[in-house]
Amino acid sequence: MNARTQVGIVGAGPAGLVLGRLLELQGIDSVVLEDRDRDYVENRVRAGVLEQGTVDLLLEMGVGQRLEREGLVHHGVELRFGRRGHRIPFDELTGGRGITIYGQQEVVKDLIAARLESDLPLLFEVDDVRVEGIEGDSPALRFRHDGAEQELQCDFIAGCDGFHGVCRDAVPDGVLSLREHDYPFGWLGILARVEPSSDELIYCHSDRGFALHSMRSPELTRLYLQCEPDEDLDGWPDERIWEELRARFASDGWELKEGPIVEKGVTPLRSFVAEPMQHGRLFLAGDAVHIVPATGAKGLNLAVADVRVLAEGLRRWYSEGDDSGLRAYTERCLRRVWHAQHFAWWMTQMLHRMPDDRDGFFAKLQLAQLEYACSSRAAATALAQSYVGWDGTRELS
Ligand code: FAD
Ligand code: DHB
Repeated sequence: MNARTQVGIVGAGPAGLVLGRLLELQGIDSVVLEDRDRDYVENRVRAGVLEQGTVDLLLEMGVGQRLEREGLVHHGVELRFGRRGHRIPFDELTGGRGITIYGQQEVVKDLIAARLESDLPLLFEVDDVRVEGIEGDSPALRFRHDGAEQELQCDFIAGCDGFHGVCRDAVPDGVLSLREHDYPFGWLGILARVEPSSDELIYCHSDRGFALHSMRSPELTRLYLQCEPDEDLDGWPDERIWEELRARFASDGWELKEGPIVEKGVTPLRSFVAEPMQHGRLFLAGDAVHIVPATGAKGLNLAVADVRVLAEGLRRWYSEGDDSGLRAYTERCLRRVWHAQHFAWWMTQMLHRMPDDRDGFFAKLQLAQLEYACSSRAAATALAQSYVGWDGTRELS
């Protein structure tokens, strides 16, 4: 391996891989380091909702052929409450925009295939990555690979290593302001080998808690149930999961289709933002620097939006010697991040059963918000605009 590169990228999730591809297209060298093996990264079931802007970027980068063939384009979602469904028509409310359902692991597979086809360095199963010298002009990444200690000199380091990565901790104490909120619930998610029960996503409020119906393909359904943040999966044999899903989604004339469960997991819901997103020659992107609760389907889209800003800053720096894009990185990203953070918090508090809601006060507030979102064009438009992706521009639109 070349022991020197222009941009050292830590993490081969959506943020790291999209950045690598954008830099490749701009003729900037990079090396991507990933601590897991390829199989694990390509099969980690997570997000599924891609904003229009994310899809457009993947297509522009030449990694969207399978996405175009297999992605499911949706023009609306259902909000279900009081046992009745209400559709929010995105296309009508946002000038024809929509979302595409395509698994995050499929995006990751496509990006890895493209990088390997270009014969660019992507090292799996690296150990003990250390970030050094970010306050000077020649930062470095040290790590172990195939049992040997390695050093990679870089011009810049991109910390795309997710919430539990090491890059954020490389910023000296006292530099980052951390803002966070842990929600008193999590999501129990399953993937089932069965045709989806609806053509569109269903965000369902019920007095037993939140449930979400999503999908991956005409044969694969993705379903989530609100649960405790540290819920023990051992207490959830398949039959109990289906029973609870049936009870929460109950609605006249609608039936949940059931099939073999092929994946199960629990995710706590959390909000987290670290600011600034850059220190010296280290730029943090995606989950490494912000987490949103899953209800707004924003995490992957924010990760992609961050590295798009970063790649443009690096392009200007390398091609014009202009550092203005890099200096503006935090400010440009955070407008979008905080908007998404608010949207995800708003969706979360509107749809989940609140613990200790003894006299049902919060449940009544939730129903009032849901009624408004489904009966006021202005409120429905606000939801639709944020859901399909708001880019943070200042003009009234
Ligand atoms: P990650 O995907 O976490 O990638 C980081 C990579 O860095 C990983 O491959 C990791 O193995 C690697 N790494 C970590 N530490 C190191 C190290 N020390 N050295 C080297 N490599 C390291 N978002 C949406 O937009 N829409 C959705 O519908 C949605 N649904 C979700 C549902 C669930 C159940 C979950 C859990 C998340 C969901 N998200 C969703 C969030 C989304 O999955 C994340 O925001 C997204 O993965 C962020 O991408 P990333 O590249 O920043 O981080
Ligand atoms: C999915 C995940 C989400 O967080 C969401 O809000 C909608 C759909 C999904 O995995 O399909």
